[in-house]
Amino acid sequence: MAGVSFLVLVTLILGHVSAYKILVVFPVPATSHNILARGVVRSLLHAGHEVTHVTPFPDTNVHPNLHQVDISASAENSHIKDQMNVTRILNGEVKTDFKMLKKFVDLMNKKILSDANLVKLLNDTGQTFDVVIAEWMLTDTNAGLGYVFNCPFIWFSTIEPHSVILSLIDEHTNSAYIPDYRSSNIPPYDFVNRVKELISQAMMIAFRYFYLDSYQNERYKELLSPYSIKRGRPEISFSEIKYNASLILGNSHVSLGLAIRLPQAYKTIGGYHIETEVKPLPDELKNILDNTKNGLIYFSMGSNLKSKDFPELLKKGLLEIFGGLKQTVLWKFEEVLPNLPPNVHIVNWAPQQSILAHPNCILFITHGGLLSTTEAVHFGKPIIGIPVFADQFNNIDKAVKKGFAIRVDLAYDMKDKLKVAIDKFLRNGRYTKKAKELSLIYHDRPVHPSKELVHWVEHVVKTRGAPHLRSPALDVPVYQKLYLDLFVVILVVLYALKTIVVKIFCSKKIVSKKLKRN
Ligand SMILES: *[C@@H]1O[C@H](CO)[C@@H](O)[C@H](O)[C@H]1NC(C)=O
Ligand SMILES: *[C@@H]1O[C@H](CO)[C@@H](O)[C@H](O)[C@H]1NC(C)=O
Repeated sequence: MAGVSFLVLVTLILGHVSAYKILVVFPVPATSHNILARGVVRSLLHAGHEVTHVTPFPDTNVHPNLHQVDISASAENSHIKDQMNVTRILNGEVKTDFKMLKKFVDLMNKKILSDANLVKLLNDTGQTFDVVIAEWMLTDTNAGLGYVFNCPFIWFSTIEPHSVILSLIDEHTNSAYIPDYRSSNIPPYDFVNRVKELISQAMMIAFRYFYLDSYQNERYKELLSPYSIKRGRPEISFSEIKYNASLILGNSHVSLGLAIRLPQAYKTIGGYHIETEVKPLPDELKNILDNTKNGLIYFSMGSNLKSKDFPELLKKGLLEIFGGLKQTVLWKFEEVLPNLPPNVHIVNWAPQQSILAHPNCILFITHGGLLSTTEAVHFGKPIIGIPVFADQFNNIDKAVKKGFAIRVDLAYDMKDKLKVAIDKFLRNGRYTKKAKELSLIYHDRPVHPSKELVHWVEHVVKTRGAPHLRSPALDVPVYQKLYLDLFVVILVVLYALKTIVVKIFCSKKIVSKKLKRN
């Protein structure tokens, strides 16, 4: 017996020899991003690695191999809060324009990169890491962290692969058939939409070229470069670092998005945040789900929209239609509502995955955040999507196109449209059937995505930055990709030929004229 436990001990110790020190940076102060962050941290800890997690949501339940760097003081999220006010969205006051983009970029750079706790980490030359993983959110400055710690750098992308992020490891995608992450255009496009996509993507490239590039260079010089200099690394410009990420880990999967071609350094690990074992439901919820006769409809608008911002009229209207259904409705809402119909239950907090996993849950009404649409496909549940913000429109439109969703637009009078959508769903089994089909595609992979995530992170460390995955497109300037130089050569040759021909022809003419005169 003692021998066996000694063996176990030795294996454990030996197992820890290959443990890596990993810095994980998820700066966005939004709950859904934190769920993704925790998924990454959990997967890496589970594989035996030592993780330092830079987060605005420090966890109280600390694992012995986890160190947390609390940036909550700087990641004040008033911009996000403003964006997430339902009444303001309904009144069309919220716009995702370049002004708001700049505000967000400032939050990610000026505020978060100068956070006292983060600076303490950067300034401590005793700190070393084997690899840095950072969430990409509209700005690229965090790529400098790899240079500061003199180790490979990996981007984490929260959404489907898109042109801007792919340009960091390969090149821009073709706007004729690949939408921008802000767009809800689904290909194939008609002429007008194809042109719209081109203009919208060109504007983003212009924003990055004319504004963001110099902004990021300055922020890098001011906020990160001093710490790489302190560690004795030569001072270099940000442009040398920006295109040097080893990998992108993408929270996406083809069952959820489009089958676009991806560079070798882009690894899709969508669904990794869902634990293989579903947690049991609390007794009260389990009772509701077990005992529902006609199935349960789960309604949640995610973690960012707050119920207190819902207009009264909308709340009343929703209760009215839910009360008229034969099904049970479970509504995730932070508020107690008076005069609840007997078939409607309100919960403050909902274990979403456990609810979706229950066979009696027949429909998910959601805002269409990528986590929610992923979880719907994971558990094979159809959705009615009410997109509100950012990529949600795109997620829902894709789900509609795939055939497991119905879209309803957020509006003061949306209750009637929601009723129509629910009736349509109840009459027609095809949404459920499609959700189950996609779920099969989603699950039919060689390994679980959380294992794949760990595998690629380890691969990058083992191969010192995985330079073999680097796309050759990064080293070819645009004019060469478009063969503009060849075009110029052809023009020159044609011009030269023309000149020669003209000369010969003219001189012949002159000669013949001279001959005639003579
Ligand atoms: C960084 O560390 C040095 C000592 O190495 C210390 O003098 C300095 O005050 C620190 N800077 C910050 C911003 O903490
Ligand atoms: C680029 O990445 C590779 C692999 O991680 C690394 O060896 C190299 O030093 C990096 N270059 C710069 C300028 O950061």
